[in-house]
Parts: sequence; structure tokens; C-alpha cells
Amino acid sequence: MGFNRKVKIAPSILSADFADFGREIRAIEAQGADWVHVDVMDGHFVPNLTFGPPAVAAFRKHVTTVMDVHLMIAPVDPYIDAYAQAGADILTAHVEAGPHIHRTLQAIRATGMKAGVALNPGTPAEAVAHVLDLTDLICVMTVNPGFGGQSFIDMTTKVRTLRAMIGDRPIHIEIDGGVTPQTAPLVVQAGADVLVAGSAVFKGGSVDDPAPYGVNMRAIRTAAEGILV
Ligand code: DX5
Ligand code: ZN
Repeated sequence: MGFNRKVKIAPSILSADFADFGREIRAIEAQGADWVHVDVMDGHFVPNLTFGPPAVAAFRKHVTTVMDVHLMIAPVDPYIDAYAQAGADILTAHVEAGPHIHRTLQAIRATGMKAGVALNPGTPAEAVAHVLDLTDLICVMTVNPGFGGQSFIDMTTKVRTLRAMIGDRPIHIEIDGGVTPQTAPLVVQAGADVLVAGSAVFKGGSVDDPAPYGVNMRAIRTAAEGILV
């Protein structure tokens, strides 16, 4: 997993058919996904519940790219080893999930996974200023986490601040929530390189008719890359 700042599309399987995750993952990868984004929710940190380590371990068998696991849970630390065992490549914890994000990022890296830190819309960029050297990815939430299909909240100022703070460190900036061909260029121009998208990727397609997934991903990528030329 070499580091680069090229635009990467990471479909969120929160918008997939929950009875057919294996085929859905294979379909989005065949249609051009760069990473697979897995949204873990606990019904406590966020008001919704998805899946836990055994399901994520089952997903792993189908992922050939990068399994990007976004934990919307609190606490995080008791579950880090379980997600390492499940095969996460990147494990992202929210800075709001507990008082010890520094310790959490150290613990994630100690397992060999890449460490991500996520910021809710109400949390300032400065919240991660002292953990940059423990971080491989900063996830900027552009919705309040918990549900797919919500409207984009403009966080471009925060993304610009983070991009400047990062300097030449090999840290990805990921955008999560409401990413579409309309919103993607705004965040890429501000410095983001990983675009999570659920509803905008899965709309109009299915495991039996996955071509729309590819059309949708190309629309986001083309719009986002358009501003880089
Ligand atoms: C929100 C999740 C997102 C979500 C994105 O809590 O973290 O990954 O699935 O969905 P869309 O792209 O539909 O906003
Ligand atoms: Zn997510």
C-alpha cells in the first residue's frame, strides 16, 4: 500500500445489499473501486447499528484492494485487536469517541494496521494537531455520522487547514458523507484524496446489474480529477 495523493474512490458498503455483501464487494471492485469502506456503528456513539468483527472478517475474504474500516463506536480500545484479526488494513477511530485518542492511535499502529482519525463536523482541525505523527489518515466527516444518504456539509475550510497542517507527511485526507460528482471537486481542490461514497455509488445498480456502480464511480472521479488538470 504505497502512499500517493491520487484521487481514490472508496465505496461505503453501508449502501450495499446487506444480504449479499460478498458479491457486492466483488462488484464494486470489478467496477473500479480503489478501496472498500466499511462503516461500523454501535448504536451508542451513533444512533444506528451495523456489524461487528465477525462480519468484517467475512468481508475480508472478498476484498482484494484495501479494507478501510471506519469505527463509529465508543469505546474503541477494547476492540482494536478484534478488527486487526478481522483483517482491516486501515482502522479509523473518532477523536470524539474517548479521552485518549493518542493512546488509541498508538494501539492501532502497534497491531500493524494503518491508523486513521475521524472528525465530526463540529470538531475543529486542531483536535488532531498533536497526533499527526501517529496518523496515516484523517477522515473529515461531511455529514453527522450514523446514516447514509445525508446532505453534504461544507467542510472545505477544515480540509484546507488540515492539508496545511499535514505538510509533507504521508497522511491521507478522506471525505465521508454526501460525496457526489457535484461535491467531490470542492474537497479535492481543498486537499482531500480519498472520497468515500455510499448512495452516490450504489444508486441505480445491483449485484445483478453492477454497471451503474462503475458509471457512478467514474462520474465522481472525472469530476474530482477535472479540477487537478
Ligand atoms: C456515515 C458513514 C458514511 C456513509 C456515507 O455515517 O460513515 O460512510 O455511508 O454515505 P453517503 O455517501 O450516502 O453519504
Ligand atoms: Zn464512513
